[in-house]
Amino acid sequence: MSRIWCLAALGFLHSVLLAQSGSDVEARIGALLSRMTLDEKIGQMSQSTAMASPISAQIKAEIRAGRWGSFLNAGSPADRAEAQRIALKESRLGIPLLFGRDVIHGYKTIYPIPVGQAASWDPALIEEAAREAAGEAAAEGIRWTFAPMVDIARDPRWGRVAESLGEDPYLAGVLAAAMVRGLQGKSLADAASVAACVKHFAGYGAAEAGRDYNSTWIPEILLREVYLQPFHAARQQGAASFMTAFNALNGVPATGNRFLLEDVLRREWQYDGVVVSDYESIREMIAHGFARDSRDAAAKAVAAGVDMEMVSTTYFDHLKQLVESEPIRASQLDGAVRNILRLKFRLGLFDQSVTPPREIEPGAAALRLAERAAIRSAVLLKNEGEVLPIASATTTVAVIGPLADSRADQVGTWSMDARLEAVETPLAALRKALGPDRVLFAPGMRNSRDRDRSGFGAAVDAARRADVVLLFLGEEAILSGEARSRAFLDLPGAQDALIDAVRAAGKPIVLVILAGRPLTFHDAAAKAATVVYAWHPGTMGGPALASLLTGKATPSGRLPITFPRTVGQVPIYYAHLNTGRPASDKELGIPLGNPEQPAGYTSKYIDVDFTPEYPFGYGLTYTRFEYSGLHISAPSIRSGETFTISASIANRGAREGVETVQLYAHWRSASVAQPVRKLLAFQSMALRAGETRAVSFTVSTADLSFYNARLERVIEPGRVELWIAPDAAHGIAGEIEVR
Ligand code: BGC
Repeated sequence: MSRIWCLAALGFLHSVLLAQSGSDVEARIGALLSRMTLDEKIGQMSQSTAMASPISAQIKAEIRAGRWGSFLNAGSPADRAEAQRIALKESRLGIPLLFGRDVIHGYKTIYPIPVGQAASWDPALIEEAAREAAGEAAAEGIRWTFAPMVDIARDPRWGRVAESLGEDPYLAGVLAAAMVRGLQGKSLADAASVAACVKHFAGYGAAEAGRDYNSTWIPEILLREVYLQPFHAARQQGAASFMTAFNALNGVPATGNRFLLEDVLRREWQYDGVVVSDYESIREMIAHGFARDSRDAAAKAVAAGVDMEMVSTTYFDHLKQLVESEPIRASQLDGAVRNILRLKFRLGLFDQSVTPPREIEPGAAALRLAERAAIRSAVLLKNEGEVLPIASATTTVAVIGPLADSRADQVGTWSMDARLEAVETPLAALRKALGPDRVLFAPGMRNSRDRDRSGFGAAVDAARRADVVLLFLGEEAILSGEARSRAFLDLPGAQDALIDAVRAAGKPIVLVILAGRPLTFHDAAAKAATVVYAWHPGTMGGPALASLLTGKATPSGRLPITFPRTVGQVPIYYAHLNTGRPASDKELGIPLGNPEQPAGYTSKYIDVDFTPEYPFGYGLTYTRFEYSGLHISAPSIRSGETFTISASIANRGAREGVETVQLYAHWRSASVAQPVRKLLAFQSMALRAGETRAVSFTVSTADLSFYNARLERVIEPGRVELWIAPDAAHGIAGEIEVR
């Protein structure tokens, strides 16, 4: 036993001295490695879901034997404490286990789904939410989470758009870094810190036809310019681990992809963290048609640099023999085990003085934060006649719709640990805010897919008796997330018919949409005075929405992803190239009776406006902002120099508001054509009614660099158009020359 205590003491010391003692850790890893058997090494490289509650005698024996390095989704806090005790005290080398779980947008307290958080454009808030979530999870013994997901998502058919940080590499990178900071805190050794796992490396969001797990074909220039950017940002922020993706990238499964894992991640990015496969993605390389059998799959994953296998057991089944018969060198395994042990040391897991895990509940501070995050993530898309905010002192509201009072749907995908009892729905919160007598409730439908119209009568009746209709429509939680691709993006079930029915009552309609992706709801929006996009807003979505609707809070969210008019426009994103025949938004369709004279041979559709329903970056407030006085500090710059671009932002309305000011650039000509716009920076500012403030961005030529055809990052001479803008489709423009 004394040996174990000695290890533990060393572990504790290590965690205290972590910042200065990298070489000490490497020495300790080396000492440990030299004593490990091949079986123990393979054990460290294996992660399982097999630790149920209560822990079976077999699993206990396996932990004792060093069969597993990590468990995911394992047991209760007490089980985790017990398993860790066995690993530390009863296994031969006392190597701790690492418990992982998907803490994606909160643990017990749920924050808005990631794409909703991204709509806040608020890295500080996102960091705070991640910190709070990490604290809750760590208290229950989970020190590794599979977040942030930074897959660029430009196809709302793909259900995992919900988990993404949107379509833009710069925005996603800034927000991913914020999540990593929040999860990992100042030090991984802090007992409230959780190791981040950036996923899914890489290209997963480009799944063909938006169908989950599907192949991706991404030219390297696009991969580097767009898809790898947020991963790099997270790596720069010190993310402790990476997860490979399910998809094949350009024909090679990401899990066996040496280009991604070795050339880019390990060599170019000098990464020494853990690389874990996705759930059974090593074995799936057989179905991909890339590995002959599970032995071949194991060999290919190890050769590519996958340190740990999640759930499938090809490493356990074959690595020993592969090393003994020498297609795999033992040193390759040592590299993987080193990475895993390094993370365990960094987390301070060898330290036995850590308080054992215990069950926790959402605390008051977390709930307040979740409310703030939900307020900040809601996007006001339309507010005609200023129906919002509703006059809370006098108005009677009819609360209608299948998502007005559904706790499970409000928290969204990946909320298996949510405390549903703590969830406050819009209905409950509105009753509190307005008083129960002024809230008439008739859901109209049982769930978002319901086709039964028997509840419509009561809904129409409630609408007739109210001053305003608050209609909570959208998508149930289960319709977005992993394996939830949709070929239609409309409001499911009889929701459109419900709007028509309720509209007959003649009352203004406030449409609140809860959904995990951009939906297409052109007609529904046209029938409503007001549209609020709330995503799946989390535990405190109800109070947040009640505050927004009654004007206690003001909407400030901005779309992190383009909203199409129809699914036929997908993929649609703001940073596209111009084509040789760009359309103007006046050109529509083919004139009737004159097929010889279509409205221009330009890049558009003949049956729908080619522009999006709502552009990237878009979102209204309860006030109105005016942009003027664009100023660029110099007419031209040389490579290596910086310039500033500024403007005046005035709040011209009668209420305060938060404006998220965006800076975009476009290269008029370049050796590789550049997007019509590219986001370079953004800043949010709160302005009182009537207030005017200057906004200023400092831009370096490095910010204007891009990849040329030889894949070199270059700053080319040329003219660059710049916009300071409220969204990707508007703004005030200027220009600078790079010499
Ligand atoms: C998902 C990952 C997740 C993992 C573990 C997989 O199916 O693709 O995002 O982290 O399961 O739950």
